[in-house]
Amino acid sequence: MHEPLVPAPLVFRDDGTPWSPRHDDIYHSAAGALSQARHVFLKGNGLPERWRGKPRFNVLETGFGMGINFLATWAAWRDDLQRPASLHFISVEKYPFTASDLRRAHAAIIDDASVMPLAASLAAAWPVLVTGMHRIELEHRALTLTLAFGDVMDVVPRLKQDGMTADAIYLDGFAPARNPDMWTPALFASLAGIASDDASFATYTSAGQVKRALLQSGFEYRKVCGFGGKRAMLVGKRASVSNEINL
Ligand SMILES: C[S@@+](CC[C@H](N)C(=O)[O-])C[C@H]1O[C@@H](n2cnc3c(N)ncnc32)[C@H](O)[C@@H]1O
Repeated sequence: MHEPLVPAPLVFRDDGTPWSPRHDDIYHSAAGALSQARHVFLKGNGLPERWRGKPRFNVLETGFGMGINFLATWAAWRDDLQRPASLHFISVEKYPFTASDLRRAHAAIIDDASVMPLAASLAAAWPVLVTGMHRIELEHRALTLTLAFGDVMDVVPRLKQDGMTADAIYLDGFAPARNPDMWTPALFASLAGIASDDASFATYTSAGQVKRALLQSGFEYRKVCGFGGKRAMLVGKRASVSNEINL
């Protein structure tokens, strides 16, 4: 499982938003990539509050893209005096960018100067584009980024075999209508298998098929206010055992 990957092309729409020709969808909201990451994925998972008081915390993401959610999480962790001593961010990506396109994308879309040094460190540590797990140690090894290059349905079951657990899950795989493979009950069942007892999740979508797949797989959700003009998004957690029986 170490085949070379075909890198994703870096394409911008006329309004400057990165867009995927393969999926005909944008990577982030036109209202701001970092702001979206902070609203949807950090706040949606109750972070930074939920990681406080824990010695270590694991985030699992479906769809690394340009790493904007990772950079927003890294910055929030770096700036939090009550941060866990160890943060592990695991992200799955089937179509990674090259390091030079990652740099170009960051220069175009990162609108917070304090995040730029983190983006530069990420690009400098960017692995060769072959399938498999790539571990990047940052912040004197207090922050680990595991980039899992491959299809989400191959990788997530493997993470479970490797004994990984997730305390927060970022579901970020393009719109369900354009990329249904990232939103299947089978994937959510695998995610439930590696979610810790008090794991949370967040996603920008509130599509019916996602709600049904979450419920079928042992998660419970709430609709909350979305980002950038979107009325709703979903946040939630693993259902308790009694709820699972009732579903
Ligand atoms: C909306 S973008 C993610 C944006 C990203 N989280 C960020 O912060 O920049 C969705 C990502 O999912 C990836 N993807 C799509 N289908 C996939 C699959 N089957 N397995 C793994 N990754 C996939 C795409 O290549 C894309 O990078």
